[in-house]
Amino acid sequence: MALDVVILAAGQGTRMKSALPKVLHRLAGKPLVTHVLDHARSLNPQAIHLVVGHGAEKVQDAIGGEDIRWVTQEQQLGTGHAVAQALPHIEGDGITLVLYGDVPLTSPNTLRTLLQRAGKDELALLTVQLTNPTGYGRIMREATGQVLAIVEEKDASPEQRQINEVNTGILALSNAHLRRWLPKLSANNAQAEYYLTDVIAMAVADGVRVNTLAAASEQEVQGVNSRQQLAQLERCYQLSIAEQLMAQGVTLADPARLDVRGQVSVGRDSFIDINVLLEGQVIIGEQVEIGPNVHIKDAIIGDNVVIHAQSVLENAKVEAHCQIGPFARLRPGTHLAQGAKVGNFVETKKAYIGEGSKVNHLSYVGDAVLGKEVNVGAGTITCNYDGANKFQTQIEDGAFIGSNTALVAPIKVGANATVGAGSTLSKDVEPNTLVVARGKARVIEGWQRPTKQKKD
Ligand code: UD1
Ligand code: CA
Repeated sequence: MALDVVILAAGQGTRMKSALPKVLHRLAGKPLVTHVLDHARSLNPQAIHLVVGHGAEKVQDAIGGEDIRWVTQEQQLGTGHAVAQALPHIEGDGITLVLYGDVPLTSPNTLRTLLQRAGKDELALLTVQLTNPTGYGRIMREATGQVLAIVEEKDASPEQRQINEVNTGILALSNAHLRRWLPKLSANNAQAEYYLTDVIAMAVADGVRVNTLAAASEQEVQGVNSRQQLAQLERCYQLSIAEQLMAQGVTLADPARLDVRGQVSVGRDSFIDINVLLEGQVIIGEQVEIGPNVHIKDAIIGDNVVIHAQSVLENAKVEAHCQIGPFARLRPGTHLAQGAKVGNFVETKKAYIGEGSKVNHLSYVGDAVLGKEVNVGAGTITCNYDGANKFQTQIEDGAFIGSNTALVAPIKVGANATVGAGSTLSKDVEPNTLVVARGKARVIEGWQRPTKQKKD
C-alpha cells in the first residue's frame, strides 16, 4: 500500500533555550529532523510531508531534499491541527505514518513492524512503558486489553495518571480514516489544542481496530526537549555504534570514548584507542591501530595502518602498512601509497606520497607528487604558493631531500638525486646529482662579541 509520512516539526522547543529551531540541533553531527527524514526515506514512501512552523525558513534553508513536501503550520494549535495542514496534500487510499521531527532514534525496523499492523480497517499505535510517565498521553485499555483512548496528562484523572503505558506519538492509519476523523477534532480540552490522540477514541467508536506495538527501548521513542535530553540521546546513539563495531570484531579501548558522526566501517582486529572521532564517510581496514585523540573525517584507511596519537586526517586515502603521526595532519587530497610514513608535525595537502616514502618530521608537503622510497628530511617545505597561484612539486623515486630544504614550486627533483640540507631550490634537480644551495660559511678568527654598553 502507498505510504505517506507526515513529520511534525512546527513546535518551538522553548526548553532548548536556543535561537536555532529545535529540530536543527545535531545528534551525531546530523540535525535531529534529518535522522527522522532518513528513517522515513528508508520506508520508500510516496511522499514525505514536513510540517514546519517556528523557524520554518531556517529549517527549510538548512534541510535539503527534493523529496520533501513542505507544509506550514502558522499557529501551533496541536498535533491534530498539524497533521490536518498536511492532509490536503495526502493523495490516494494508502497509509499515513506520523513521526515527530524531534524523535531521532526510532529504528526503521520498528516502523516497518508498526506499518504491518496498520491497514484499511486497522490503526497502529507505537507505545512504550515508562517508570515515570509524567507528561505523556496515557493508553487507556479495557479489561480485555483492547485500546479505548489516549488521555493526555493534563486531562487525566489521578487514577489515569497511574498508567505507565504511554503514547509515543508515532502512529499509522489509513488516509481515508484521517480524512474522516481530523475534521471532527475539537479543542475542547485542558490545553485548548487539537489533539491527534483523539482519533483513537474515534477509531474505537467507528469499530476500527487499534493495534499497538511496544517500542523496543525507551531511547527509540525519546524526544528531545532540552540540551540534557539531547546529550543523553547522543550517548545512547554513540554506545549503540560502539557496540556494533565491537560485534564486528573491533577492539575499543573504551566504548564510551569513541564518537562517530557519519558512516563508518572498521575491519576485524582493528584497535581504536580513547577519544577518537570518526566523521563523514570513514572506511578503515583490518588490523589498523588508531591512537588516542585521533580525528578522522572522510577517509579510507587500508589494512595494518598505524595512526599514532593526536593525528588529524581529512579527505585522505591511506594504503596498507602506512604509519602516521603522532601529531600528523593529513589535509584533503592526501594519498599515502603502501608503507609510506608521515611523522610528527608534518602537514600534507593534495599530496601523493609514494610507496615506502618517508616524511618523518616537521614538514609541509602540499601540491606534491612523491615517488617511491623518497626521504624527505626534517623541516622541508614545498613552497607551493606565490601569493596568487599554487604550483606543483615533483620528487622522483629514491630522491633524498636534506633537512630544512625549501623547494620553490614548480620544481622537479629527479630520481635518486640528493639535496643538501638547508638548500633553497627554485630550479629542477637532475637525477642522480647532488645539489647544495646554501650560503658558504665565513670564518672570522678571534671574533669579539659585542658587549653591553653601560648606562650612566
Ligand atoms: C504528544 C502527544 C502525547 C504523547 C507525546 C509523546 C498529543 C495531543 N499528545 O504530547 O500523547 O505522549 O506527544 O511525546 O498528540 N507539533 C507541531 N504542531 C503543533 C504541536 C506539536 O508540529 O501544533 C509537533 C512538535 O513540534 C513535536 C510533536 O508535534 O515534534 C509533539 O508535540 P509536543 O508538544 O511535544 O506534544 P505533547 O503535547 O508533549
Ligand atoms: Ca513533548
